[in-house]
Amino acid sequence: MHTDLQEILLTEEQIHQRVQEMGRQITKDYAGKTILMCGILKGAVTFFTDLARTIDCPVLFDFMSCSSYGTSAQSSGFVKIRKDLDSEVKGKDILIVEDIIDTGITLNKLRPLLEDRGANSVRLATLLSKPERRKVDVQVDYNGFEIPDAFVVGYGLDYAGRYRNLPYIGILKKEVYAK
Ligand code: IMP
Ligand code: MG
Repeated sequence: MHTDLQEILLTEEQIHQRVQEMGRQITKDYAGKTILMCGILKGAVTFFTDLARTIDCPVLFDFMSCSSYGTSAQSSGFVKIRKDLDSEVKGKDILIVEDIIDTGITLNKLRPLLEDRGANSVRLATLLSKPERRKVDVQVDYNGFEIPDAFVVGYGLDYAGRYRNLPYIGILKKEVYAK
């Protein structure tokens, strides 16, 4: 285990098993369709590539990057798109792929935005969800794991850009982000 971690929350094996299950469900639900997988950079990249390889139907890849600015005093934040999708969304079956739903602010803005562009359908797959932290409602169609209110890193998730390459997900020691 990395020395900056307090504990491992999800092992490589647990993640692998769950991602396989999610892929099987998605394959069933999208039978006969082509999925436009929209990954949210950068945190979702690891989950995205693993999930994509478990889906047994035609898939297209695209990515977007956004940042959300919300303060504790506000119930809804402002979400800025830093990099938009390259693809035309109209008529497509979109699967948004995210690493973690925390306050829900990012996806609460993003989902209607893609729907407004005329997508045939928009669904959301997230590896992790912290329900205790939710500030706004988000419909999650595929959820890997519900986790407690702790700051986690690894398997794509970062703190200050670091730890994304850890193959498991762990809880970061408080002293790491307090210093
Ligand atoms: P929200 O749902 O709009 O609050 O934002 C979710 C985003 O916040 C995620 O895509 C992550 O980039 C980031 N995030 C939230 N919780 C964590 C965490 O525990 N570790 C790493 N990043 C997190
Ligand atoms: Mg993110």
